[in-house]
Amino acid sequence: MIIVAAGSGARLKRPEPKALVPVCGRPILSWTLDALSPVTFGGKVIAAPPGRIDEVRKLAGAGAKVIEGGATRSESVRRAFQAAGVGGDNIICIHDAARPFVTAGETAAILLAAEEFGAAIGATPVPDTMKNVRDGQVVGTLDRSGIWAAATPQAFRAELLAHALDSGDEATDEAALFEALGIPVRVVAVSRLAFKITTPEDLQVAEGILRNRK
Ligand code: CTP
Ligand code: MG
Repeated sequence: MIIVAAGSGARLKRPEPKALVPVCGRPILSWTLDALSPVTFGGKVIAAPPGRIDEVRKLAGAGAKVIEGGATRSESVRRAFQAAGVGGDNIICIHDAARPFVTAGETAAILLAAEEFGAAIGATPVPDTMKNVRDGQVVGTLDRSGIWAAATPQAFRAELLAHALDSGDEATDEAALFEALGIPVRVVAVSRLAFKITTPEDLQVAEGILRNRK
């Protein structure tokens, strides 16, 4: 299991890196680790923000390997994958620290699909009507029926992931690297609660969800 937590969270506009921003008294990363804790993995690697390795190590506890992430998400994944030192037909599961509400059940379904098909991602059908907009003007409407929002976890057979990462390309998710190589990627429907905390409003939503749980 690779958790990428090294981003600064520029769009969140908070002084601390996003994974360490507290929600209901605990860092986002802690909630994410909790969410995944019922799932059994052979090992765990966390890509931490620069200079925050000790902090992340304390949150993750023993048994997790914590490394410093890179300047981009792809670079953080590359470093973590290298640190995992796993190849062959082992399954590598990659998850964004910024998605604390994914469930263990969803994660298990994605892992199963990756075992069967080699590559699988969590995703949600987009509920809104999607407009193409240029200069404040609507220039078209997408056919929503085929549009899904990609989420994480994304899970891959290690040898395929190694091949995809070798391209050296940058992408906002790993599945895009697979697509570029023409490797089929299986989609597992996940709840919209697998959303990524990105903006200050998302943080309010996350707080509401956690308060509602208690
Ligand atoms: N991530 C990472 N290393 C980076 C950039 C991103 O490990 N250099 C991680 C983030 O910590 C996050 C996930 O990738 O868990 C998804 O990225 P995103 O939501 O874009 O996070 P940030 O890049 O931190 O946010 P922003 O783009 O607003 O700066
Ligand atoms: Mg980013």
